[in-house]
Amino acid sequence: MANSRVMLDVLRGETVFPPPIWMMRQAGRYLPEYRELRKKAGSFLDLCYNPDFAVEVTLQPIRRFGFDASILFSDILVVPHALGRDLRFEEGRGPVMTPIGARGVEQLDGQAFHDRLASVYETVRRLRAELPESTTLIGFCGAPWTIATYMIAGHGTPDQAPARLFAYREPQAMKKLLATLADYSAAYLIRQIEAGADVVQIFDSWSGVLDEVCFDAFCVKPVAEIVRKVRTAHPGVPIIGFPKGAGSLYSDYRRQTGVTALGLDWTVPLTQAQALQAQGAIQGNLDPLRLVAGGAALREGVDAILRALGSGPLVFNLGHGITPETPIAHVEAMIRQIRDGSGR
Ligand code: CP3
Repeated sequence: MANSRVMLDVLRGETVFPPPIWMMRQAGRYLPEYRELRKKAGSFLDLCYNPDFAVEVTLQPIRRFGFDASILFSDILVVPHALGRDLRFEEGRGPVMTPIGARGVEQLDGQAFHDRLASVYETVRRLRAELPESTTLIGFCGAPWTIATYMIAGHGTPDQAPARLFAYREPQAMKKLLATLADYSAAYLIRQIEAGADVVQIFDSWSGVLDEVCFDAFCVKPVAEIVRKVRTAHPGVPIIGFPKGAGSLYSDYRRQTGVTALGLDWTVPLTQAQALQAQGAIQGNLDPLRLVAGGAALREGVDAILRALGSGPLVFNLGHGITPETPIAHVEAMIRQIRDGSGR
């Protein structure tokens, strides 16, 4: 019944209008039902690792908005966590880890990797059983570079200076870290697919801070390795690459990595997006703050995307995750505008 999932047709290159819609971070703090469950679950990681909670939270935006795709509720940092690194999420600060050094890279321990992620696979299995037949289920992982930035700094930073410096000072350790993460991330995606994910997305949220040599070595090569392994195991499953902030380096990314579809952030000009769409499906790329503002800013943003990209293979999405202050009424207005087709 896979062909009843329109998003899969689009990812394989068909044009569907109105385009399928989902939003990055569509389960989250802008939803009152999420905030309610989050209080009950305790920590954010408890929410991720408890299939009862994780399934419920994943389904919340599907019930409310009827999106065409559902993304597994988890976090990209469960991968280093399953490799033995500590991880916690602090209110208002985000993820906190003990910074890794060259020795720590040697000591990464994947012995219990899949056991530690068993609850995530269970969540995927239950989701595929509970989701409407027509809803595409997206599994995901972080790209090695983005995961490495959090492992090296121990927290988020605006420009990833700690990870960039580490890469220059400890090139061998950096290489090893990225290779290890690529191996385990591929294994993680393969298990998600075997548990029922129809598509997988690789989030490289921090690829925009690198020069072209580092972009090639830290973003393109490790993602290409993940794609190669996932393809070998499951040739038919579409893979979405999202190298946020890649700018002009987006142009060769699909060919270099082998991803099926390209996730575009909102800084990608629509003319560049059209050129990328001539090579295959694209996903994006509304500025999430247009959705916060609503009104004309939202209408014009949606309209511009539909006009420029609506006659090719497009998955409508934001250019990055929805922010917690987004009014629900604005999400509803965006969906109405896209599904009415009035923007074309
Ligand atoms: O998209 C979805 O609905 C699926 C769930 C999802 C989350 N994180 C849930 C989450 C996905 C796909 C992610 C990916 C993720 N996590 C990325 C890549 C995408 C991106 O946004 O750039 C990154 C860099 C992370 C790491 C991470 N997790 C950070 C930096 C933070 C703190 C920032 C924040 O928004 O609080 C998180 C926490 C997080 N991940 C939350 C959610 C819903 C908020 C946690 C809470 O409820 O307090």
